[in-house]
Amino acid sequence: MASLKGKIITVVGSGLIGRSWTMVFLSGGYTVKIYDNEPGQASRAITEIRKQLEELQQAKMLRGNLTAAEQLSLLSSHHDLQQALEGAFFVQECVFEDLKAKHTVFHEVENLVTESVILSSSTSCLMPSNVFSCVQNRTRCIISHPVNPPYYVRLVELVPHPETLPAVMDVAYSLMTDVGQAPVRLRKEIDGFALNRVQYAIIAESWRLVQDGVISVKDIDLVMSEGLGMRYAFIGPIETMHLNAPEGMEGYLQRYSEGMKRVINTFGSVPDFSGEPAARIVKEICELIPAEQEHLTVRRERRDQLLMELAKLKK
Ligand code: NAI
Repeated sequence: MASLKGKIITVVGSGLIGRSWTMVFLSGGYTVKIYDNEPGQASRAITEIRKQLEELQQAKMLRGNLTAAEQLSLLSSHHDLQQALEGAFFVQECVFEDLKAKHTVFHEVENLVTESVILSSSTSCLMPSNVFSCVQNRTRCIISHPVNPPYYVRLVELVPHPETLPAVMDVAYSLMTDVGQAPVRLRKEIDGFALNRVQYAIIAESWRLVQDGVISVKDIDLVMSEGLGMRYAFIGPIETMHLNAPEGMEGYLQRYSEGMKRVINTFGSVPDFSGEPAARIVKEICELIPAEQEHLTVRRERRDQLLMELAKLKK
């Protein structure tokens, strides 16, 4: 595949995720043009990105081979969509999680770019066939779903529209790899993609265990952070099975499949996430971490700091 280096990427929408994508693409040496339809928002995003890149450089956590100043020299903000799209080979949409907003953006963008430009959406829970339903040529459409914060959590789920060309998937995969992300390919669209389906399975069982009085909120969170999470930062559930029996996966299945099926058969129904159980769980978590901004901010900063350390370790 021809090198993508030095090419232009347009980021549409400069909120939390638009800014994050911009920093990731800049770290790979791409020229990034940010567009936002809210006047002043894209230039405010540049100010914020400059601050973050300089802080990362100071903390020796800047990604890529370029200095913060070199990365910033590749960045521009635009309030005119046509100008923002000029020369781009890849458009990363990061507007509100609202189907109408996505339709408007892709309709406008499609009318301003050539057929070869790849249209990529950051949506976290809309299906590709809905997001791209207003696009004429859907063979160049793809979802590139990041995980927050993408600068430290490198997974990107690539989800095709039913009409997406394999070559488009390949270009998105190469781009994500080139900028240091960890792309995974879904072979077809599915509600929740892969990450949220697994996440929701964990949330559902954790919720049921607390709701049914089996375990406290504090302790179920420890089951993940001190137990499963320790290895899941490095190996996934399938490799875990493979390594957890002396003979590998086949041995694991012989030993544990009956037990797994027995336990899985006891899983309850989909929680309602409301009423008395929800009130009880809200109270319990708020006793541990009060819901006031000051407390939440401290915990978020702790999370991001630890994620940064973990990202260093994984490197
Ligand atoms: P946000 O609310 O922080 O930013 C959205 C930005 O889009 C705003 O700056 C807004 O002015 C701009 N915008 C809205 N309509 C526009 C239009 N027609 N043209 C140009 N700009 C427009 O939202 P956030 O959190 O950055 O989310 C963006 C997308 O990323 C959503 O689809 C979301 O589901 C997805 N996502 C969000 C994650 C998160 O943790 N926040 C994680 C993964 C994906």
